[in-house]
Amino acid sequence: MILDYLKVGPLDVNCSILVCPNSNEAIVIDPGGNEEDILARIAALDARVKLILITHSHFDHVIAGARLKKETGAPVCLPKKDRGVWRLMGLQFKLAKIEGKKPPHIDRFLKEGEKVSVGSLSLEVIHTPGHSPGGCAFYMKDENLIFAGDSLYRDSVGNWQVPFGNFEDLVRTLHDKFMTLPDNTRVIPGHGEETTIGREREHNPFLKPGRIEELREAERTRPGTFRMLLAMLLPKFFSLKSAKK
Ligand SMILES: [Fe+2]
Repeated sequence: MILDYLKVGPLDVNCSILVCPNSNEAIVIDPGGNEEDILARIAALDARVKLILITHSHFDHVIAGARLKKETGAPVCLPKKDRGVWRLMGLQFKLAKIEGKKPPHIDRFLKEGEKVSVGSLSLEVIHTPGHSPGGCAFYMKDENLIFAGDSLYRDSVGNWQVPFGNFEDLVRTLHDKFMTLPDNTRVIPGHGEETTIGREREHNPFLKPGRIEELREAERTRPGTFRMLLAMLLPKFFSLKSAKK
């Protein structure tokens, strides 16, 4: 298997390109922007993209999705349980001031435990809620490799303090889904440097004894999704109203 990845878009998302060495068929994960760079990398690899996977419904992971789909004809797949948040993708593009682009149409929804295959590439869908309700990681057991989305990073974890984030779900995801994998599993996160499960088990400050309990205590006073959305949207509403006057 050939794996290449590049940082793309306004939030430096890791966009991965996986190529089957027998057929040159490929999978792209999280096309978060910089369409020309992604297409150039695909051409350099002489790859034919057959599938586009999105780890979760946040705008920064899909900015180049529509263009990539148009250029390659590959279907776009999203975790089924993130379908609700996907309905707000147009709003996310607006709030992030992503102009002249639209989110891609989703062709296929993915479920926990499902396998997606292209050529000799086979990835298992692992539901990893917490940062978003339906977010998924893509696991290649035979390759000791996981694409973690925004759930686990080198020395950090996904932000649960976002609309529809959930701290307890994230804790379960980290302990039940990631920390049960072998230490030598290579982790390609949604942002930042790659790592391994063993390294994070040993060094990640969020996985140290007692840290979860401290954070759980702080969670008691955190505003919920409804209040967070109000805080984001109300200033925009009032600025629109005053602009009309
Ligand atoms: Fe995210």
